[in-house]
Amino acid sequence: MIKAIDWKDGKVIILDQSILPFDISYIECTDFRMVAEAIKGLRIRGAPAIGIAAAMGVALAAQDIEARNPDELLKRLEPVFETMLKTRPTAVNIRWAIERIRNYLIANKDKDIFRLKEMLIIEAKKILDEDIEVNKTIGRFGAELIKDGYRVLTHCNAGALATGGYGTATAAIFVAAEQGKKIHVYVDETRPVLQGARLTSWELLQAGIPVTLIPDSAAGAIMKRGEIDIVIVGTDRTVRNGDVANKIGTYSLSVLAKENNIPFYVAAPLSSIDLSIPSGEDIPIEERDPSEVTHIRGKIISEEASTLDTHKSGHPRLGMVQIAPDGVTAKNYAFDVTPARYITGIITEKGIYKPSEIKDIK
Ligand code: MRU
Repeated sequence: MIKAIDWKDGKVIILDQSILPFDISYIECTDFRMVAEAIKGLRIRGAPAIGIAAAMGVALAAQDIEARNPDELLKRLEPVFETMLKTRPTAVNIRWAIERIRNYLIANKDKDIFRLKEMLIIEAKKILDEDIEVNKTIGRFGAELIKDGYRVLTHCNAGALATGGYGTATAAIFVAAEQGKKIHVYVDETRPVLQGARLTSWELLQAGIPVTLIPDSAAGAIMKRGEIDIVIVGTDRTVRNGDVANKIGTYSLSVLAKENNIPFYVAAPLSSIDLSIPSGEDIPIEERDPSEVTHIRGKIISEEASTLDTHKSGHPRLGMVQIAPDGVTAKNYAFDVTPARYITGIITEKGIYKPSEIKDIK
């Protein structure tokens, strides 16, 4: 199984997704700022994966802080928490991971400072390991929805690359395939950053699962032709009333699914559920550089982050292919909100819930 992130020899190792599938290259982060840049530049992406990265970034930062006691360590980590929280606003997993680390530090204030720094590394690795287990459980629940012969449509990448491993939406697909069901996955290319085309189709092909890539704009027509049995997507933040933020284009898919009587499911680990927000209207939506829209494979990585570059194949990475005239205005919301009424069910590690039941989840 592909690993998007790991901790090895005192470094955070990140598979550089900005250049996948053309180059398989790893960034070795020795400083929390490198981790933050990797998150901002979509070198690591997907809600659970960036939560794990934030936790590991904090653990990395702690090793370099010379603090006399746990209180001082916590105080000096606050700016690091802030840096991580500012990288990407929509996925709640970063806040979830930072809160977990902060609470962990508070609960272990009696420990020796050197031991506590080591414990932070162990806790960050635990977040990664637990995420994999959560995904396997989501996969088992989700697979119950996928019947033999089903054609599944997914959007963006809610796969192993977006998590500690297995993915959320794709976990259901992987488990269904392991159960011997014959399934076929349709993958939206997912403009503008093409996570479907570049990442999901790559992951599924490697797992030996039949996949067909479609332009985002074809989803409705393909549903109407009767070629899709179920839609399963991931989420960056699911809130109290069951509204779901996910990659831009998810909302349109949900409306099209309803119009065509196709069940629409969201795979959501509890780390992506934010009960502090009443409705989707209050979810902060990240707006990214318009060049991602005006250029194919636009500037998904900020210029200043290019010191992280590791790609070798010479494949265009930065905004090489312009598809719109100079001076045109482009809008680039990275996420949208799907209202609960379009969602058939939310698959969590606790089971499958109706959107209206999410508020009662423990
Ligand atoms: O901008 P990205 O690539 O980080 O967006 C990712 C998604 O929208 C995923 O569907 C979501 O994070 C769920 S990943 C299990």
